[in-house]
Amino acid sequence: MNIFQGKVALITGASSGIGRATALRLASFGARLGLAARTTEKLQAVANEAAAKGGEAFAIPTDVTDREQCRRAVEATVERFGRLDILLCCAGVSMRGPFADSDLDALERVMRVNFFGTLYPAYCAIPHLKKTEGSLAAITSLSGKRGTPFYAIYGASKFAVQGLFASLRLELAPAGVHVGVVAPGFVDTPLRENVLGPDGRPYETPPPPPFRVWPVEKCVDRIIELLVKRKAELLLPWFVRPFLALDEAVGGWLGDRYLARKFGCRKKQE
Ligand SMILES: NC(=O)c1ccc[n+]([C@@H]2O[C@H](COP(=O)([O-])OP(=O)(O)OC[C@H]3O[C@@H](n4cnc5c(N)ncnc54)[C@H](OP(=O)(O)O)[C@@H]3O)[C@@H](O)[C@H]2O)c1
Repeated sequence: MNIFQGKVALITGASSGIGRATALRLASFGARLGLAARTTEKLQAVANEAAAKGGEAFAIPTDVTDREQCRRAVEATVERFGRLDILLCCAGVSMRGPFADSDLDALERVMRVNFFGTLYPAYCAIPHLKKTEGSLAAITSLSGKRGTPFYAIYGASKFAVQGLFASLRLELAPAGVHVGVVAPGFVDTPLRENVLGPDGRPYETPPPPPFRVWPVEKCVDRIIELLVKRKAELLLPWFVRPFLALDEAVGGWLGDRYLARKFGCRKKQE
């Protein structure tokens, strides 16, 4: 796709899953990429794969919970390529379990990675994106669109990103910066194998997903569409949007029952 030829993107969470797959897709379109995450070897492997696909990419070891490291990731990308057209925030961690039984430090950590780990790079990238009238994009989640049992902190962190980006979209429109989010359901990546339990450690056997799991390339398709059409928000799957509208129209009655059944949390009988 020509519009990405020579464009410069910084992708957080680029060592795995959605971030990695999007990096490779953008590389195949000739984009130049800064790849940020904590695991240097995995980033280097993605950079090599990106080069093989015709892109140019380099690894920027970054912990997104550290604002100084986020600033350096943005600056390193601009120093290397001279500009920044896209920031795509994919770094994230999932947590599933009863909120009241969850370790408070673990709850805070999820918020730091998913929310502040998006806010910090966004904050540092905005001056550069204004110069290129570029795109600021993040991956949220359907659990950031509708309260979901056992995903309280994960969902809250994604609601927070949705809210941040909804405001930024209006605030940055006069500067020509596009701001958008992709909110997927379950996607086939290592995220679920590493989902944290209430104690803040990954489950030995992660709970099975209660919904269909979508191929990662479908999610990449949505991200590319978001960037090309400069959309505010896309969902995966798309048909969740009319369900959400219907649910809202009936005061949440429909979704409450559906999710209670799916997650086995019906009210006790009087
Ligand atoms: N997969 C799904 O079902 C699904 C559904 C909805 C939304 N999402 C969202 O999509 C995004 C990508 O998830 P994924 O499915 O691709 O998961 P993944 O394969 O587990 O990838 C997560 C990425 O985040 C990085 N990361 C985690 N903590 C980090 C930190 N402190 N600093 C920097 N990087 C960090 C990881 O790299 P390192 O470990 O190397 O740092 C990895 O590259 C996340 O925001 C997730 O919440 C995923």
